[in-house]
Amino acid sequence: MGRSARILGLLRPYSLLFAVNMVTTVVASVLDGATFVLLIPVLRTLFGLQALPATGGSVVETVLGKVLGPFFAAGNTVGAVGSVAIILLVTLVVKNAALYAAAMSSVAIEEGVVRDLRVRLFRHLQTLPLGFFQRTRGGQLLARVVFDTDQVKTAVTAALASFLRNVSLIVVYLAILLGLSWRLTLIALVLAPVLVVIIRPVVARVRRRSRAQADDRGELTSLVSEMVASVKLVRAYVAEEFEVARFRRLADLYRTRVFGTQAASTLTSPISEIFAGVVLVLLLLFGISQLRPEVFIAFIVVALRLMSPVKAVAQYPTIMAGAVAAADRVFEVLDLPPDEGDAPGALPATFRDRIEYRGVSFSYDGGPPVLQEVSFDACRGQVVAIVGPSGAGKTTLLDLLPRFYEPTAGAILIDGVPISRFQRASLRGLMGIVSQETILLNDTVLANIAYGRGDFTLAQVEAAAGVANAHDFISQLPHGYDTLLGERGTRLSGGERQRIAIARALLRDPPILILDEATSALDMESERLVQEAMDRLMAHRTTFVIAHRLATVQHASLILVVAEGRLVERGTHSTLYASGGLYRRLYDMQFRT
Ligand SMILES: Nc1ncnc2c1ncn2[C@@H]1O[C@H](COP(=O)(O)OP(=O)(O)OP(=O)(O)O)[C@@H](O)[C@H]1O
Ligand SMILES: [Mg+2]
Repeated sequence: MGRSARILGLLRPYSLLFAVNMVTTVVASVLDGATFVLLIPVLRTLFGLQALPATGGSVVETVLGKVLGPFFAAGNTVGAVGSVAIILLVTLVVKNAALYAAAMSSVAIEEGVVRDLRVRLFRHLQTLPLGFFQRTRGGQLLARVVFDTDQVKTAVTAALASFLRNVSLIVVYLAILLGLSWRLTLIALVLAPVLVVIIRPVVARVRRRSRAQADDRGELTSLVSEMVASVKLVRAYVAEEFEVARFRRLADLYRTRVFGTQAASTLTSPISEIFAGVVLVLLLLFGISQLRPEVFIAFIVVALRLMSPVKAVAQYPTIMAGAVAAADRVFEVLDLPPDEGDAPGALPATFRDRIEYRGVSFSYDGGPPVLQEVSFDACRGQVVAIVGPSGAGKTTLLDLLPRFYEPTAGAILIDGVPISRFQRASLRGLMGIVSQETILLNDTVLANIAYGRGDFTLAQVEAAAGVANAHDFISQLPHGYDTLLGERGTRLSGGERQRIAIARALLRDPPILILDEATSALDMESERLVQEAMDRLMAHRTTFVIAHRLATVQHASLILVVAEGRLVERGTHSTLYASGGLYRRLYDMQFRT
C-alpha cells in the first residue's frame, strides 16, 4: 500500500464527517463564485446599461438572466439592484456558515486522525520487545508519538480541507471563466501544465530533505529528555556548558536543515504567483478587445481570485513531503512486528511445585553470550539465592522467567510445561517482581502501590504497606497515601522506595517472587527494615533472590553461584562455604567489610 493511500486510510472512520466536509466545502465554493457573478447586473446598472443583457450574452449571463429575470421584469431597476444586494448578502452569510462548518468538520477529522494514530502507536509500543526500547532513544519515540503524528495531520488537512476546498474553488472559477469566455479560459488552461514542469524539481528536493529534518527533530527531543533525566549528573560534573554546547550544535544543525527545506518549498509560492501573473497579462492582452467591459471586469476579478487556490494547490506536494516523512517515522514503528502477543493456543499459566531451567543460554540481540547452559530446579516454598560478581548475568537470568527476554537455547519449565506455551499476562500474574532499581510513577503513593489495578481498597494497600515496613513513613508524608511522588519518585530515599516496591509485590500476593536486591548500600536501620520486609514477603512463596546481603543467603534452600554467565557452584551456605570455591571468596570478602 502506498504511503499516501495509507495516510488517507486513516480517514476511514470519519467518512460521515468527511461527507459533511465535502458538501459544505463545495457549497461554499459555488456560493463564493456566485457572489462574483452577481456583480454583473450591479456593474451593468452602474454603467447605465440594462441590468440584464438581452439574449446572446455568455453562458453565465444567460443563467443569470434566468435566475434574476423575475426581479427585473417589473422594470424597477433600482429596486431590482436592491434585491440583488440582498441576494448577495444572503449568499455571503450562507457561504460563511458553510465555510465554518467545513473548517470545524476538518478540525474534527484531523484531530481524530491524530488521536487514533497516537493511541495506535502507544498501544503498539506496549507490544514491542524490551530490546527495542534499549536500542531506541526515548526522545525519538517521544517525537514520534507527539510530533510526527501531529504532522501527519498536515497531510490530512492538505488532502482534505484545503485541497478539496481549493480544487472545488478552481473548478467553480474555471466554470465561470469558461462561461464568460471559453477562448480566454482555454489560453490559461493550455499554460497550466507548464507550471507543473517548473515546480517538479523543487518538490523532489523538499521530499529528499524532509526525512532528515524529522529525524533531527527527534534527536533534539532526545537531548532535552536525556538532560532532564540526568540533571543531577550534569550539575555534579559541572557539565552545564558542555550540555548547552551540545544542544546548540544540534539546534543549529536543525536550523540549517529546516532552512534548506524551506528555501525549496517556499519557492513554490512565488513561482506559481509569477506564473499566474504571466497568464493574467496574456488574458488582458487578448481579452480587452474581445469582451464587453462588465464581462471583462468580472472575468479579471474571477481570474485574480483563481490565483490563490492555484498557489495553494501548487504548494501541496511540498507540504505533503514533510507530512509523508513524519508519517513514515510513525509507520516504521507501527510496522515492527509485535513480540509480546501470545501464540494461538497459549495456556493460562499455573504453578504447583516445580520451576526448572534446562540448559538455558542467552545473549542480548545477537551479542556475546551472557548466559551459557544454565540448569537448575527450584521447588515450591524454596528460597533460591543467586550470587556472583557484578555483570555475571544474575539479573538477566531472572529476567527470563517472566519472559522479558526469550532464551536463545534451552527452556524454562513450570511443572514440566515450557513457559513459552503460557500466556504472558497470566505467567507474569504468578510473579511479584522487585527489581534492582525501583521504578516509581508520577502518581500518588496509593496508585504506586496498587499500580495498574483499581480494585484494591485503601485498607488492603495499607496492610501491604504495613507488612513492607512502609506504613509508618507513608503516614508521615504530607498527604499520607495521597502524596504525589515526583517524577521518578525523587522525594523518597532508596530504602523507602524499596519498601514501596515490596508493598507493591505483597499486595498482589503472588506465589512466585523475584527479588533483585538493590546494590546501593542502605544505612543499618533501613537495611533492617528492608530485610524484615523482604523476609515477610518471602514467607510461604517460592522466591528467587539475587542477594547482596548475607542474611538472605544464609537461609536460602539453594544458592546458585553465577560467574561469567555460567553456573559455577550450587549448594547451601554450609556446603558451599566448606568447599572453599568462589562462594567462599565472595562471602569472606563481604564478611570482612
Ligand atoms: N539490555 C542489555 N543489552 C545488552 N547487554 C546487556 C543488557 N543488560 C545487561 N547486559 C550485559 O549482560 C551482562 C550481564 O548483566 P546482568 O545485568 O545480568 O548482570 P548482573 O549479574 O545482574 O550484575 P549486577 O550484580 O551488577 O547487577 C553484562 O555484561 C551486561 O553488560
Ligand atoms: Mg543485576
